[in-house]
Amino acid sequence: MVKPLLITGASSGIGYELARVGAAHNHDLILVARRADRLQALQQELTNRWGVQVWIYVADLTDAQARQQLFDWSQDQAIRLYGLVNNAGFGHQDPLAEANWERQNAMLQLNIVALTHLTRLYLPGLIAQGQGRILNVASTAAFLPGPYMAVYFASKAYVRSFTTAIASELQGTGVTATTLCPGPTRSEFQEQAGVSNSKLFQGELPSAAEVAAYGYTAMEQGQAIAVHGFMNQVLTQLARLLPYEGLAEQIKTLQKDG
Ligand SMILES: NC(=O)c1ccc[n+]([C@@H]2O[C@H](COP(=O)([O-])OP(=O)(O)OC[C@H]3O[C@@H](n4cnc5c(N)ncnc54)[C@H](OP(=O)(O)O)[C@@H]3O)[C@@H](O)[C@H]2O)c1
Repeated sequence: MVKPLLITGASSGIGYELARVGAAHNHDLILVARRADRLQALQQELTNRWGVQVWIYVADLTDAQARQQLFDWSQDQAIRLYGLVNNAGFGHQDPLAEANWERQNAMLQLNIVALTHLTRLYLPGLIAQGQGRILNVASTAAFLPGPYMAVYFASKAYVRSFTTAIASELQGTGVTATTLCPGPTRSEFQEQAGVSNSKLFQGELPSAAEVAAYGYTAMEQGQAIAVHGFMNQVLTQLARLLPYEGLAEQIKTLQKDG
């Protein structure tokens, strides 16, 4: 059975690798991002290798109208989605008082509003067909306050809270919602966020492909929350037990260059 997945942020990193995992599992795909050339190259690779159907849709998902147009287009194409993967997101390191507001606002629009809007648009169709999957990409940052990346960390806490609540609402519908929480992972994220030299991103990091394979399995199993990596699982459990203000001081130290 062909089961289309829509993946946002499929032009690089974890989203790119999720598309490759999805194709290997025989899913047709709708790939969304702003960089058309990257999406076209991936479309060609996946079509040739796996024989699945791959649509590409170029959009800036911070734009509400573009999100509605994406939904309308997929309805016009009569694509009955099986899974929605809200992966597109970015961060930026800056003390809030010095941060560029346009960039912070775009982060809120992409990491929170786009993820919520797309979920709202596609959820009724998934429920009506009695089966479906939602995979929302948060972060281990979802468990922590993040000085110098306050908006990013808080946006991921939103994703975790929102997705956990939706997962509960969806019980008995055949549709599941999974929060994927990667820790620091090799991708274009670090450079975009300006954190390549921070202590958090030193040492051997997991590849985007590893995280994507883990996230795909968690989504298929309908897990509510999936924290990637044993150490991240231990640290996020520990974070639940420690005073929140103290955690902020720890993260502040780790955000510094290593
Ligand atoms: N890498 C990490 O250490 C890490 C850790 C925890 C969580 N995460 C989360 O994992 C997710 C994927 O990140 P990644 O590590 O794979 O980073 P990445 O390599 O930078 O990929 C980000 C993806 O988002 C897309 N995107 C960015 N802005 C967009 C916009 N306005 N409209 C549409 N698409 C947009 C990018 O495509 P275009 O530029 O072509 O639009 C790209 O495909 C993010 O939600 C991130 O917060 C990453």
